[in-house]
Amino acid sequence: MSDRAKFIAGLPKAELHLHLEGSLEPELMFALARRNKVEIPFKSVEEIRAAYRFSNLQDFLDIYYQGANVLRTEQDFFDLTDAYLKRVAADGARHVEVFFDPQTHTARGIPFAVVADGILRALSEGVARYGVTSKLILCFLRHLSEEDALATLIAAEPYLDRLAGVGLDSSERGHPPSKFRNVFEAARERGLLLVAHAGEEGPPEYIHEALDILGIDRLDHGNRALEDAALVRRLAHEKMTLTVCPLSNLKLCVVTDLKQHPLKRMLDLGLRATVNSDDPAYFGGYLNDNYNAVAEALDLSHDDLVTLAKNSFLGSFLSEADKAKHIAAIDAYAGRAQS
Ligand code: ADE
Ligand code: ZN
Repeated sequence: MSDRAKFIAGLPKAELHLHLEGSLEPELMFALARRNKVEIPFKSVEEIRAAYRFSNLQDFLDIYYQGANVLRTEQDFFDLTDAYLKRVAADGARHVEVFFDPQTHTARGIPFAVVADGILRALSEGVARYGVTSKLILCFLRHLSEEDALATLIAAEPYLDRLAGVGLDSSERGHPPSKFRNVFEAARERGLLLVAHAGEEGPPEYIHEALDILGIDRLDHGNRALEDAALVRRLAHEKMTLTVCPLSNLKLCVVTDLKQHPLKRMLDLGLRATVNSDDPAYFGGYLNDNYNAVAEALDLSHDDLVTLAKNSFLGSFLSEADKAKHIAAIDAYAGRAQS
């Protein structure tokens, strides 16, 4: 292991952009297909992995929604979430803020409660089991209607005290944030925090809409902000956190080569960028794989890595006291690593 990889491995960090359904490893997909007697169009784990070649976001989403079909019971959602927590704890994660897509499941007849109960039980047990605290974010699928999103928010009412916020994901092009103005307003009125995927494939205008129309508290991806200098200045001035996903960007052809990845430019421009894995089972890497790949490609320094780890806590929805505690742990670790 290189010095940099060792430094990354021990660095306390948070993950702020992770779709639980995107952490479904082929092995678990197979096991759940067998357990639930669900047919899947693959004969082996190798065949599944071989199918994971994408040329854009939609290519990926088609196979990702198909994969989620094996998730049926509360125990399935528990197992999915527990496996992710165990894996990310091994990467030095101390806190995670994870997405789930209830509409992917309710559309198949799985009750909202089955999904939410399994996930929440694993998140709650994850604190003692793995030393990882967590928050849960409900994502609306943007290729569906705003009425469908509103119905999902209503279905979530008994769980509002256990949800940190709502987000917006799925097919970005042709589905601007403005389509979800009312449901985001309703979520804000219910005390939820707001995030949205914007500027992954969609234009900078979608980021403007997420800020001005949805009033987001955090921006997921945001890569294409760099095409708009005034927008970059605004994001830096507002200390908006960007949850950047390097290996996802590579696998979905948002960048052609990690050496061209905008992460370092974002830091140099004063943006509060963070590193995240998005859908690790599909993109070939968990949190530290993302740190390692992008650090190698962009020759990131220890200072850059410390900034990224600090940003992950500063951009979290933790209390100021908890943020301060994690930042102090990073400073202590970096100090020890130097001496
Ligand atoms: N759902 C899961 N991963 C996603 C991504 N990278 N962009 C949009 N929707 C998603
Ligand atoms: Zn995402």
